[in-house]
Amino acid sequence: MKDNILLKVNKVYSEQNPSKYFNNTSKKNLNILFRNRKNFLIEKLKLPTRLFKNSELLDLGCGTGQNTISYDWNGAKCTLVEYDKSSSIQARNLFKKYSKNRFKVINKDLFKFKTSKKFDFVVSNGVAHHTSDVVKNINLAIKYLKNDGLFILGLGESNGFFQRNLQRYILYSLTSDTNELIKLSKLLFNENLNRAKKFGGRSIKEIIFDTYINPKIETLSFKEVESLFKKNDLYLYSSDEDTFDLKKIYGFNKFYFRLKTGSKLENKSFLFNSLVNFSYKGNSDKILNKNIDLLNQILKIQDNISKKINNQSVKGFKKIKLNKNIEIYEEKINKLEKIDVINKKNIFQFILELKNIFKILNLKDKKTKIKLLKKTIKKNSRLFKGHCGKGMNYFVGMKVQKYDT
Ligand SMILES: C[S@@+](CC[C@H](N)C(=O)[O-])C[C@H]1O[C@@H](n2cnc3c(N)ncnc32)[C@H](O)[C@@H]1O
Repeated sequence: MKDNILLKVNKVYSEQNPSKYFNNTSKKNLNILFRNRKNFLIEKLKLPTRLFKNSELLDLGCGTGQNTISYDWNGAKCTLVEYDKSSSIQARNLFKKYSKNRFKVINKDLFKFKTSKKFDFVVSNGVAHHTSDVVKNINLAIKYLKNDGLFILGLGESNGFFQRNLQRYILYSLTSDTNELIKLSKLLFNENLNRAKKFGGRSIKEIIFDTYINPKIETLSFKEVESLFKKNDLYLYSSDEDTFDLKKIYGFNKFYFRLKTGSKLENKSFLFNSLVNFSYKGNSDKILNKNIDLLNQILKIQDNISKKINNQSVKGFKKIKLNKNIEIYEEKINKLEKIDVINKKNIFQFILELKNIFKILNLKDKKTKIKLLKKTIKKNSRLFKGHCGKGMNYFVGMKVQKYDT
């Protein structure tokens, strides 16, 4: 049976390619992309790039290969699978011109791709949520991993994607006509589109097609990703977001060698990340910078206090006075501004704006709805502002050998 979703998604993608980070694949542009990707791998995903040297890497849904070439430059032998014919040709040409290692480009539906080979790395970057079955796609990708192999997954996460999903919902409630969808998305969400263009490098049209015209975006929540990883014996090795893990913040689990779960590697908790990303707009640099200055001062005083009490002994006993230091210390701590992990005020504002949108959507007259939506969204201070939630999350899973307990 033909995969209907695949054909529909491909119709959109063959018109506006979603994986072109620049039109001109010059060495200069590739170098910039390579540097950024390398930093991302090291800083965010904790993957030292020498890990890729002489490795076998499979990229399922590689698009034009502009992302994949970075892995090749880090030393990986890449196998690229892509359904879209034109993208796969562009990927082959890119690799022919710039690759440093052996490679293979396969123009095929990833669900039909078969190999007995196992890989050190499997990459699925912005693909699974566009396929007919996101879970099946992830399960299949993991099957190609060697023991200790790493799965690099870039996926829309349901909480972070909520606002984009709501935008889709608003547009589809107004029209089913593609041209009108394009027009309305520009009218209502121009702030987000301009921001995405500025930071992502794609054209407004490409972003509209990928985000709003695309017939399939089915995201998974943190919880679903975690449970999928667990089921597949995949240890959640890293992610682009640090986890606000309360147990870690409060200092539980401070064992050096023993992990809480015993034989299996421990997983992480994304409870707070879900809560934050739902209404995420961006953080205030002003408060942060003020706090950082203060923290530096506090640290100095604290170091001083610790130094004064250091190196005491029966013979070398010295009486010390700490009153003054402690007083200043207390004063400075008092001045620290609260940065709530859960900022109730912002969340309430977000909910209020959310309610207003649904009120408008319940109106009958289309013209009035569009007019009010435009006005309300413009006035909003949280919903559809700044980052507008989070479009993509990254998870690195390590295939763990099963241990006998
Ligand atoms: C948003 S793009 C991401 C491309 C690339 N991974 C990147 O990071 O730039 C999604 C890609 O997945 C491809 N794709 C979607 N479903 C597929 C399938 N069933 N088999 C192979 N490729 C597929 C699309 O053609 C498209 O090139």
